[in-house]
Parts: sequence; C-alpha cells; structure tokens
Amino acid sequence: MSDSPSLPARLVHLVSEAGWSTLQESLPAVARGYAASVGFKPSAGRVLVLPGEAGAGGPALLGIGTDEGLVEQPFLLGKLASELPAGLWRIEGRLDNPTLALTGFHLGQYRFDRFKTVAREAVSLQPIPGADLARARLVAEAVCAGRDLINRPANDLTTEALAQAARELGERFRVEYREIIGPELLAENLPMIHAVGAASAHPPRLVDLIWGDPRAPKVTLVGKGVVFDTGGLNLKPENSMLLMKKDMGGAAAALAAAEIIMGLQLPVRLRVLLPIVENSVSGAAFRPGDIFRSRAGTTIEIGNTDAEGRLILCDALTLADEEKPDLLIDFATLTGAARVALGPDLPPFFTQDEALAEAIARVGRLENDPVWRLPLWKPYRPMLDSKSADINNVSQGGFAGAITAAIFLKEFVRNTPHYAHFDIYGWTPSARPGRPEGGEPQAARLVASLVQERFRARE
Ligand code: BES
Ligand code: MN
Ligand code: ZN
Repeated sequence: MSDSPSLPARLVHLVSEAGWSTLQESLPAVARGYAASVGFKPSAGRVLVLPGEAGAGGPALLGIGTDEGLVEQPFLLGKLASELPAGLWRIEGRLDNPTLALTGFHLGQYRFDRFKTVAREAVSLQPIPGADLARARLVAEAVCAGRDLINRPANDLTTEALAQAARELGERFRVEYREIIGPELLAENLPMIHAVGAASAHPPRLVDLIWGDPRAPKVTLVGKGVVFDTGGLNLKPENSMLLMKKDMGGAAAALAAAEIIMGLQLPVRLRVLLPIVENSVSGAAFRPGDIFRSRAGTTIEIGNTDAEGRLILCDALTLADEEKPDLLIDFATLTGAARVALGPDLPPFFTQDEALAEAIARVGRLENDPVWRLPLWKPYRPMLDSKSADINNVSQGGFAGAITAAIFLKEFVRNTPHYAHFDIYGWTPSARPGRPEGGEPQAARLVASLVQERFRARE
C-alpha cells in the first residue's frame, strides 16, 4: 500500500560509465546541467537526485561503475535506501540477479532505531520484474533482526534478553523451546557454560530450540552468545573491550539463519543451540589455572579466561554432536587472530569436509556473503597441550590463533562428519552498500541458502 497513491513513482536510472553519455543526452537541459555542475560521475554507488520541471523532484541516478558493477557489488541498490528522499521509486536498468539486488536494497534500509524517539520515513521501490520480493523481504528482515541484537548494548541485551529474543522467534514458528539456566547447567552436565558465566549477575544459560519434521534431515546451528566479553580476570584493555557487546554475534547469526530457514519452510529438522553468558569479573569468576571436566569428559585447563568462546561452545558442540546431525554449523566471534588474517569483512571458515568447503565458498559468492577457508591444521594441535589436563584453552605464543581455536572446537565434534565453524567479526566498521555501520550477522544468509541447496524437498 502506498501512502500517497496520487504521486507517481520517480525513476532511478542505473548508469554505467559506458552508458552515461547516452543517458546524459536524453535528460532535460536543467537536469543535464545540474549533473555537470556537481561533477557527477557514474562511479559505483554514487547517487544523485536530479531537479525536475518547475522545481519538482526529478529522477535519480545510481552510478554502477563498469557494466559489471552490479556483479561485483550486488548490493549497490542499498545506497538508494540510505540516500534517496523518502517516497516511491522505480528502477530503470538491467539487474543480473534481481532478488539479490532487492535484498541489498532492503538491507540498506536498516537503521538501529530502537533507542531513537523519532522514526524515519522510508524509501520504497516499485516491484522489480523477476525479483522474488517475498524472499528478499524475509531474508532482509531476518538479517536486520540479527543486526538489532548485535547493536543492542549489554545493559539492554542481557543473557535473559537474548534468550527472550530466541524464545520470541521460536513462538512465531511453533518450535519446541528449552532453556537451561544457572545451576541447572551443572545438573544437565554443561559445566563450561556454567563456569564462564559464573561471575555475572545475569545467569548463564543454554537455549535449545527445535523446529520441523523430526524425520527430516537434521541441521544444527550453534552460536556463541557472549552478551559482553570483559575478558574475565584476564581483563581486556579498554580499547579491546569497547565493542564487546557484539560478542553474541554468533548467536545473532544462528538466529538469523534459523529465521530464514523456518520462514522458507525448508524441509529440515532444525536445532539451534545458543550458549549464552556474560564473561564478567567478580569473586565468583573462573580463574586462570582452573581445570574443569567438560561435558565430553575432556579436562580443560584455563590458560586465559578471555578465550571464553571456545569454552561455552565446546559443551554446546558436544551436545549437538550426540545426535549426529546431517549438518552442524557454528558461528562465533571467536578470535582477534581471524581479523588479523582476513580483516573484518571476510570471515574465515574451517571444515575437514572438502565437498562442504566447496559448497560454502560457492554459496557465499552467490549470496554476496563472502567467506574464506582456513585450514584445520592438525599438526598445530600440540600447541594446545596442557601439563595437567587433556587440553589448554589457549596456546603459548598465540601463533595461528584462529586455527588453534578451530582445532579446539573440532576436538568436541567426534561423530558428525559434515561440520563447519565460522569465525565471524559480526560488525561492519564503516558503511558499505547494503551494509550500514554496526552489527552484521555474517554468514547467516550463506548458511540458510546452503541448507536450502543441500536439503531440497524430494518431489
Ligand atoms: N571475543 C573475542 C574475540 C574477538 C576479539 C573477536 C576482537 C573480534 C574482535 C574472544 O573471546 C577473545 O577474547 N579471544 C582472544 C583469544 C586469546 C585470549 C587466545 C583473542 O582473540 O585475543
Ligand atoms: Mn574473550
Ligand atoms: Zn569473546
């Protein structure tokens, strides 16, 4: 429904470097003169709103750079959402993958406005031929819900509140929901989640959500839900701690992927496991040198309380592995080392399953949700050796930190051959088309599409 049906949609011309001179000639003199006067060039992502007749609003231009501009940056339409004046617009120009382009547009509309009192008017688009609007909306809504969770500060998104968000999503899709809280974690043999969460006034918990036909292939998603990571007694310095509200980005990605999978009603039995804690400091905190027996029976020496993500994940992965799902994926803002290796925008993933690795890399490119494989290099396993326990949670020296973290996790996945771990950053440090600055549940769209591709309904 349009608010003002009397106003016709304004045009947006997609303009490449090669197409610019032809388009320029077709424009009215005022518009052409204006574009020249501001020095418009159709570089990728450049937006210009042209004057119309008698002061009315004219059409807009969206530069796409080369003719391949939309292939290289499929989310360029995201620029329109943030830069055009509110109202109804119509796209003029060819789109290779209209659904993905439209997804980028919707993703570009996102603002973290939970704590803003005044709402913003929206830019909307007329239907784009060939684009699956329902899918683009569903995907963008799921990703934006994940962004909201990451952007919410830890005084608002407590352990209780993150679990509540999972429960509310579950209620929309009639899932079986279970939450194991505080001391119950010990009774249920999830000691590592209990240990890491012990210092916080907000009790740790495990969310266990099950959806779909019990006879369908089993897909399990595990997400690191550290609502704030102080580092624990191995306290982080101030600059490293500043952004640690985003340390539940893995849980946000798992929930976003789950929302897409359930929304598309994919033919799988989905399970989402979220170990949720605040890694805090108090007299009850776990300490460097402590030794715990994990759910798997493996004893773990704490070399560093700041390597908490792998600790809560190992119990959740053990639980997931007990039913040997057909696909097991975890998402976690696990290491700074992954950022040193690949930067904020290209999360590494780890798997020993060659076919799965190929599919992940391919679907990531297809969905404009890029990832890069790093090796689960077994010869580095001795770096995690402990003098008094089966394994240490950190290595000495910190070489190959993203790899040793992945090796640590893999130790707890013993029965499930199709397993991959994503070490995501969960954050866009500076805005790009379709990716506003702030929380980003990286790899969620990728994983949902991967599940769709892998488990097609048999007709
Ligand atoms: N949540 C952090 C990892 C992190 C830091 C992700 C910065 C993204 C940006 C994690 O819990 C952590 O503190 N990891 C330590 C591990 C180290 C103690 C072995 C790290 O990467 O420094
Ligand atoms: Mn940490
Ligand atoms: Zn952390």
